[in-house]
Amino acid sequence: MDLHGTQVLNLFYRFATSAWGQGFAGEAATKVTAWVSRHVPDLPLIARVRPANIASQRVAIRAGLARAQHLGGAGYDGLDWIYASKLPN
Ligand SMILES: CC(C)(COP(=O)(O)OP(=O)(O)OC[C@H]1O[C@@H](n2cnc3c(N)ncnc32)[C@H](O)[C@@H]1OP(=O)(O)O)[C@@H](O)C(=O)NCCC(=O)NCCS
Repeated sequence: MDLHGTQVLNLFYRFATSAWGQGFAGEAATKVTAWVSRHVPDLPLIARVRPANIASQRVAIRAGLARAQHLGGAGYDGLDWIYASKLPN
């Protein structure tokens, strides 16, 4: 996807409610980050997270992403905070 004029990979996760709270999302996102780092090293990996979605923020951090405060703002459907593996300038 395009993020402020930069091509990035968008990490998105959604699990069935019956699977929440068991570490699956953090584990899966960590595997994806490792795969991207190995196979698509030139593209930043980002996650768009709602400020109130603490679980999603924890998943991004668990996966090795860090909040890029300067990239946050209005997204397609609301305010996004951006977490990124490599911070686009
Ligand atoms: C976000 C989502 C994928 C997390 O799934 P999950 O399997 O429950 O996540 P995990 O069990 O791996 O937990 C991840 C972290 O969030 C924390 N967490 C889980 N539920 C939480 C809650 N309700 N409040 C605060 N923290 C929470 C866990 O303690 C864990 O933290 P840690 O890494 O510091 O130990 C799941 O809630 C979901 O599918 N939500 C709906 C879709 C969504 O919001 N996707 C994100 C779009 S950006």
